[in-house]
Amino acid sequence: MDPRTWATVDDYLTDNLLGSDEALDDAARAAAEAGLPDIAVSPPQGRFLTLLATMVRARSILEVGTLGGYSAICLARALPPDGTLVTLEADPRFADVARGNVDRAGVGDRVDIRVGAALDTLPTLRDDAPFDLVFLDADKASNAAYVRWALELGLPGTVIVVDNVVRHGAVADATSDDPGVRGTREMFELMAAEPRVDATALQTVAGKGYDGFALALVTG
Ligand code: SAH
Ligand code: DHB
Ligand code: MG
Repeated sequence: MDPRTWATVDDYLTDNLLGSDEALDDAARAAAEAGLPDIAVSPPQGRFLTLLATMVRARSILEVGTLGGYSAICLARALPPDGTLVTLEADPRFADVARGNVDRAGVGDRVDIRVGAALDTLPTLRDDAPFDLVFLDADKASNAAYVRWALELGLPGTVIVVDNVVRHGAVADATSDDPGVRGTREMFELMAAEPRVDATALQTVAGKGYDGFALALVTG
């Protein structure tokens, strides 16, 4: 199948199912104007995150990998007024763009952006835990370590979503020396072996290509 069809269908769903969303359109535009890479979740994926956070009645959410705040806005929208999203970003310039975007989107009061390498900032979050929902979307090489932290900072009932776990099929290549592929495979091994986690993963096609996400529930 022609990947252009995936993009056409994504546009169709965005225009006809999701409806217009000025805050997210503005955030995407500001991120592009600031020169950020075009790797935020798509509008349908963003709505999926909003729905999931709403369904689990999340009051506290952890995101790893803020970029320009697009997915942060989607997640924070699902929070009650006294809820919080802590989102971790390594690049201070990206974090500045995200700050402006979440504030303009009207969710700034619920969003706490922490700048630094996530493996350095995660150990400082014990007072912010437990998190009801964790969205992992930063450097894929550290995916297994991020899932270990999600378990550390979660409780039974915590939902974990890991973005970009398929990467055009590369995940199935056991010989890959791509650090992202290796990190994601290590993450799947961990999820499979960890008795406190029930997990699956779904492949997706979209405007940004062939990829997928993992969905896990902490059970114990
Ligand atoms: N969740 C965003 C997209 C994130 S892109 C959205 O959908 O809107 C991945 C982000 O992870 C980038 O902004 C990158 O700077 C950040 N990142 C990469 N390595 C990191 C690390 N070690 N710690 C924290 N953030 C990191
Ligand atoms: C990349 C990162 C992402 O989080 C994503 O959704 C797509 C691509 C990347 O690093 O290329
Ligand atoms: Mg991603």
